Amino acid sequence: MKLELKDLRVSIEEKEVVKGVNLKVNQGELHVIMGPNGSGKTTLAKTIMGHPQPKVTGGEILVDGKSILGLKPNERARLGLFLEFQSPTEIEGLGLVSFLNTAKGAITGSRPSFKEFMHEIKENAEKLALKEELIGRSLNFGFSGGEKKKAEILQMAVLKPKMAILDEPDSGLDVDAVKIVAENVNALMKMHGMGAILITHYSRIINYMNPDVIHVMKDGLIVKEGGRDLIREVEEKGYNI
Ligand SMILES: Nc1ncnc2c1ncn2[C@@H]1O[C@H](COP(=O)(O)OP(=O)(O)OP(=O)(O)O)[C@@H](O)[C@H]1O
Ligand SMILES: [Mg+2]
Repeated sequence: MKLELKDLRVSIEEKEVVKGVNLKVNQGELHVIMGPNGSGKTTLAKTIMGHPQPKVTGGEILVDGKSILGLKPNERARLGLFLEFQSPTEIEGLGLVSFLNTAKGAITGSRPSFKEFMHEIKENAEKLALKEELIGRSLNFGFSGGEKKKAEILQMAVLKPKMAILDEPDSGLDVDAVKIVAENVNALMKMHGMGAILITHYSRIINYMNPDVIHVMKDGLIVKEGGRDLIREVEEKGYNI
């Protein structure tokens, strides 16, 4: 899958938050977006996935050259897009397994057998060092902050998207968990040619990965692009670069 943002402009409640972003992510590529709090990174991520709140006021979002602006979030998921939420919500009464089963069925058009599916979930939970008892719970209900973030990665591993947007997957994770999450994303990229946009504030997770481009987003715009050196520059000088 090739994802392209062309001069994308997005407003939330009449305020322009994304002010003309251009970005091209090919299959198998890893793009990192860093930037100050409130610069529009999460808004950009939600807009790509079709969240109803941000309003696109200009520009285009193209998947393999075709506009997806008219598509609902579930239709975008069917194309192979996936968003890991910065702050996953707890949904009491919706079991993690049944949620994943429905999502997988909606995306692939056929539901896997329960036994096979449970096996896949357990296998991936183990890879993520996610406690097995969490699988039996409602979605994110009573999960710790780090467990919620890992559960999002579990969803990604099971749904196998073509392009994943990961909104601070490392936030609130302990040092071992950061490495585990990075390795799981790497594995999906390698096995399925998944492309990824990784939003983060820290170099730690990127140290375990092979980013193609680092983008710095400031006040709704991508103001700088580069390689690993740019991360070092940001960590040393902050965003006055
Ligand atoms: N639901 C909302 N209502 C009003 N303003 C909003 C809403 N969501 C986002 N904003 C505003 O849009 C701007 C961009 O927010 P966004 O969440 O995209 O930032 P971010 O770059 O992800 O920041 P962070 O690094 O803190 O996660 C902020 O000024 C924020 O206050
Ligand atoms: Mg954010």
